[in-house]
Amino acid sequence: MAEVRAGRVSDLADGQRILLDVDGREVFVFEREGRFYAFQNVCPHMGGPVGEGILMGKVEAVLGEHRETVRERFSKAEIHLVCPWHGWEFDIETGLCAAWPTKYGIRRYEAVQRGEDVYVVG
Ligand code: FES
Repeated sequence: MAEVRAGRVSDLADGQRILLDVDGREVFVFEREGRFYAFQNVCPHMGGPVGEGILMGKVEAVLGEHRETVRERFSKAEIHLVCPWHGWEFDIETGLCAAWPTKYGIRRYEAVQRGEDVYVVG
């Protein structure tokens, strides 16, 4: 598999994203907590630019003594990318759709740091 240089690590500071072409597909790259992520920039719902979406923790229920929902909170462990067009959410670790993980997802690529540069494995 070929590696495509995405840019400098510093280009991804402060939540910046890089768009690049990987084997004819538009791919976006971002960094979060020292890890690099790359996905194809096409939402499986209606083709929206999912790479322009925000990152947020999965909304999860906090259960009480009898397993009733006491409140809800944003997960710190499961982070979702939210498509800006209609709000479909994708787990950034897998690319799978939060609502229909067995049916939909966005294509994930490996993103690696080499020195001061980040590469996407196509
Ligand atoms: S195109 Fe992404 S949610 Fe509709």
